[in-house]
Amino acid sequence: MIPGLKRSFEGHVLTLTFDRPQKKNALTGAMYEALTEALRHADMDDQVRAIVLHGNGGTFTAGNDINDFIATSGDFTDFPALHFIKQLAICDTPIVAAVDGAAIGIGTTLLLHCDLVYASPAALFVMPFIDLALVPEAAASLLVPMRFGLAKASELLLLADPINADEAHRIGLVNAVVPSVDVLKIATAQAHRLAAKPVHAMKTTRRLLRGDCKVIVERIYHEAELFRDALRSDEARDAFTQFLSRNKAG
Ligand code: COA
Repeated sequence: MIPGLKRSFEGHVLTLTFDRPQKKNALTGAMYEALTEALRHADMDDQVRAIVLHGNGGTFTAGNDINDFIATSGDFTDFPALHFIKQLAICDTPIVAAVDGAAIGIGTTLLLHCDLVYASPAALFVMPFIDLALVPEAAASLLVPMRFGLAKASELLLLADPINADEAHRIGLVNAVVPSVDVLKIATAQAHRLAAKPVHAMKTTRRLLRGDCKVIVERIYHEAELFRDALRSDEARDAFTQFLSRNKAG
């Protein structure tokens, strides 16, 4: 049993649930490692034909645990988050996300690697890297302008403007906005539809749709080096301390 991650499996669909609601499902190193292993095994297991990602307690995920940013050793090749992102980018099994509540940082960037995304009206998407004195990750610097255009990418990654579910639907980050009570049910139903399709053709079609995986992984590593350098900066450290102390302040 991995703290912070739940797994369930039914009818060829693996459901991975971020389950740390008291910390808004912020992702720890242990959670990333468990997610990476789950994705790796899913690709090796013929019985797993689709994956659903979602978060418990009305938040998708508040992104990387800020405490881990502070504690990091600085060797980016050791970042559990990097292994997760890479595994997600090379994953052959189709992935459907059910987003209820906040999807922050990697909570939004991981969606760029999902095939279908369903969001509740309470969903909120933001990539606040710049405000933390950080840089984009998960190949967002490549995929966000490619998918939404440079003007929108500048709003999302330079201004770090949050977008709500309707805007995310309008720009094509999410497939549909559905009631909160239905979001997991609908995502799961779509995962079952994907799981019922011919497996080999599904994997091949996904690869064709996603483009050159090598280019995406190269960008992930390039961003990670820059991210590592940014993490060490005084302005980033100040931003982390400010976030963690804000509730205590008053
Ligand atoms: N890392 C570590 N702890 C986090 C966290 C994160 N990414 N996100 C939330 N938490 C913790 C808070 O510190 C708080 O802990 P506490 O109860 O011990 O004080 C708890 O989770 C609840 O969060 P809180 O901020 O009080 O809830 P909220 O409802 O007011 O706001 C969010 C929810 C998700 C909007 C807000 O927590 C947030 O913006 N988090 C994102 C942090 C971030 O910038 N992540 C991106 C990293 S690239």
